[in-house]
Amino acid sequence: MNTVRKAVFPVAGLGTRFLPATKAMPKEMLPVVDRPLIQHVVDEAREAGIEHFIFVTGRNKAVIEDHFDRQFELEMTLLERQKHKILDYLNQDLPVPGSTSFTRQQEPLGLGHAVWCARELIGHEPFALLLPDVLVQHEQGCLAQMLEAARELPGDANIVAVEEVPHERVDQYGVVGIGERKGKMFSITSMVEKPPVGRAPSNLILTGRYILQPEILKILSTQERGAGGEIQLTDAMIQLARQQPFYGLQFDGRSFDCGSKIGFLAANVSYALARPDIAPGFRAEIKKILGDLNGE
Ligand code: G1P
Repeated sequence: MNTVRKAVFPVAGLGTRFLPATKAMPKEMLPVVDRPLIQHVVDEAREAGIEHFIFVTGRNKAVIEDHFDRQFELEMTLLERQKHKILDYLNQDLPVPGSTSFTRQQEPLGLGHAVWCARELIGHEPFALLLPDVLVQHEQGCLAQMLEAARELPGDANIVAVEEVPHERVDQYGVVGIGERKGKMFSITSMVEKPPVGRAPSNLILTGRYILQPEILKILSTQERGAGGEIQLTDAMIQLARQQPFYGLQFDGRSFDCGSKIGFLAANVSYALARPDIAPGFRAEIKKILGDLNGE
């Protein structure tokens, strides 16, 4: 596969499941420990070698653009107060000038439509797509694992990250059908968005990490509304899979669906326990809470 330089982050969603927290603040800015969700996902892309970061935003999302910019007043204040450590921490996260682009999805017409809105910025090259609702925790990021696997694949291949979920939950996700398997990778024989339980081709779901060929954009330009009345990326991928090879990778690591409250809270606990500076104190607090609950 050709080098994947660009990544798309759809961040136009309304975040209704987190109201009132998301009334005036984008859900992508909710913190997991001390980094916003979107920063975690951008970190994953950067670690995988992505050079250009494309954000598909919407109304009330301007703060995401600010987050990836310098904040001179803050920097000057930190400098005056000799807070060099936190300043270095902030500067590490700053994207290279010119490596971010922002475009808008004017109406909430679905994930497929959001990707299509980025077509001019993507151009004619393969690209990564990362949904910021999903965090994958592992030493090697999910996208890096996918790009490593993609090296073995033909030039026109597409690859998506997949994982198993209990059968009764398949109706919340895009689900894939499994063909020939080679290690953690397999060819995909079918895809369906949010199938009724009992009608899904497997219990392997699309996790929210994709590497797609640019031909998807042409398909999306004529894509009709699908499940939930939205223009579904999965429907466009079904068409693309008729023209090009399509693979699934069962990645290593644990995913957290931060679009749900439980998933978001679990991510906070798990990421905090993985932080050497926070884990000891936090573990003690959790023990206390669990002890109280158990009446100890
Ligand atoms: C989207 C995709 C779905 C995928 C899911 C992962 O659904 O359409 O195929 O499984 O993300 O989180 P959404 O969560 O936006 O309804």
